[in-house]
Amino acid sequence: MSDLNRRDFLKLSGAAATASAVALSAEGPRGPHSEAAQAGAGFIAGPPIALVRIGMVGVGLQGGSHLENFLKIPGCRITAVCDVRDERTTWASEAIVAAGHPQPAVYSKSARDFERLCETEDLDLVFTATPWEWHVPVMLAAMKSGKHAATEVPAAMTIDDCWALVEAAEKHKRHAVMMENCNYDRPEMMVLNMVQKGALGEVVHAEGGYLHDLREIKFEKKDEGLWRRAWSRQFDGNPYPTHGLGPVANCLDINRGDRFDYLVSMSGPSRGLQDWAREHFPEGAPERSERFTLGDVNTSLIKTARGRTIMVQHGTNLPRPYSRINLVQGTKGMFQGYPNRVYIEGRGQPHQWVEMAAMRDEFDHPLWAAVEARAAGAGHGGMDFIEDHRLIHCLRNGLPTDMNVYDAASLSAVVGLSVDSTAKRSRTVDFPDFTRGRWRTNPRLVISAD
Ligand SMILES: NC(=O)c1ccc[n+]([C@@H]2O[C@H](COP(=O)([O-])OP(=O)(O)OC[C@H]3O[C@@H](n4cnc5c(N)ncnc54)[C@H](O)[C@@H]3O)[C@@H](O)[C@H]2O)c1
Repeated sequence: MSDLNRRDFLKLSGAAATASAVALSAEGPRGPHSEAAQAGAGFIAGPPIALVRIGMVGVGLQGGSHLENFLKIPGCRITAVCDVRDERTTWASEAIVAAGHPQPAVYSKSARDFERLCETEDLDLVFTATPWEWHVPVMLAAMKSGKHAATEVPAAMTIDDCWALVEAAEKHKRHAVMMENCNYDRPEMMVLNMVQKGALGEVVHAEGGYLHDLREIKFEKKDEGLWRRAWSRQFDGNPYPTHGLGPVANCLDINRGDRFDYLVSMSGPSRGLQDWAREHFPEGAPERSERFTLGDVNTSLIKTARGRTIMVQHGTNLPRPYSRINLVQGTKGMFQGYPNRVYIEGRGQPHQWVEMAAMRDEFDHPLWAAVEARAAGAGHGGMDFIEDHRLIHCLRNGLPTDMNVYDAASLSAVVGLSVDSTAKRSRTVDFPDFTRGRWRTNPRLVISAD
């Protein structure tokens, strides 16, 4: 932290302390007065684990990709797999055996068979890549039976469930990690490195999003088509905020010097899925009579306790090229993704972007340089391998994970809060302080090259 930043931080954290104390006392039985809160200082890390034994719950597209990564990462073994589809547990078992590891235990009797897995198996980590509605039940079952838990994104779809994860992690002293792979993509890690080196000055604003034409995927009769479209029929807000928000939250030291304070959100009309069904299904097909509530574009604005602003967008129902926006604006310059470009005052031409590639030698994150060769060919351009590698590294060394339960809850809280604000004509809604004040003193996140 520069001198200026440190001075500002001390001044602002004093003001925020007053505001935060008021907000905390309004939170009722959850939050600061709960049993877990009284019990101690939150859970950060457990003892080192020499060989991380993993139970995988949900081995579909994304779970299957993580499974293939874990088979290549030293110091871990997948010893149990669970999925409601037998063909996926069979695929997973065969992949594990083909990699030279013992046959895993298989759980596929019912949608709640993960409970038996958690109770029966001797595991260090339960990793879930199930549909959104199952993340919290699996993680709670895992922590209750003494296992660390990791989940695909978002960790939770309601504020109550965010609190449930925090309270379970503290009570059982177990990790509840949200696997936000976009935090590890090369441009996102490069901008984090630029911010932490002070190249952009003080960060005052950021933007992130998940803007991805998923119309065809949502109507498939397999994989995400079996569950993701259903959320678009019953939900309005931002159901998937963390790909864009996770990386910029790290740049703003969220939960480590600043925190999300409040949010406003609004959605536009829902047209894209209806139109797509009309254009792709014959007269009389049931898909043509489905009605959707999810606004095609949802926009939320977040104000942080230190007064900074973040825009988060979601749009998965309209024709458009992919973007997570990835914009970080500081007092000395800015970074913007899609395409990746940088502007630093005093370098290059005034008012002109410089391509990110031209600054890579100077600002590439050391983790990418260290792990790039091993990540080649892995899911989503290698970032998924890097996040899995980091998770296992932290567990094996008894280190805090890069994403802790407070981050998982804060980032996922945008789901519930955006629904709330959207339904109330975009009224302001407050974020709970899941850290119960520790955001003021938590050290900045440093992702090492290990
Ligand atoms: N981080 C990323 O880039 C990324 C990419 C894709 C998906 N995801 C996330 O991964 C998760 C899974 O998505 P996907 O694309 O792999 O979907 P998918 O439908 O391909 O896989 C989900 C799997 O979970 C299984 N399943 C469903 N209910 C279950 C239960 N109760 N117990 C055990 N297994 C169950 C399904 O049979 C399926 O095999 C979602 O949370 C999604 O948001 C993340």
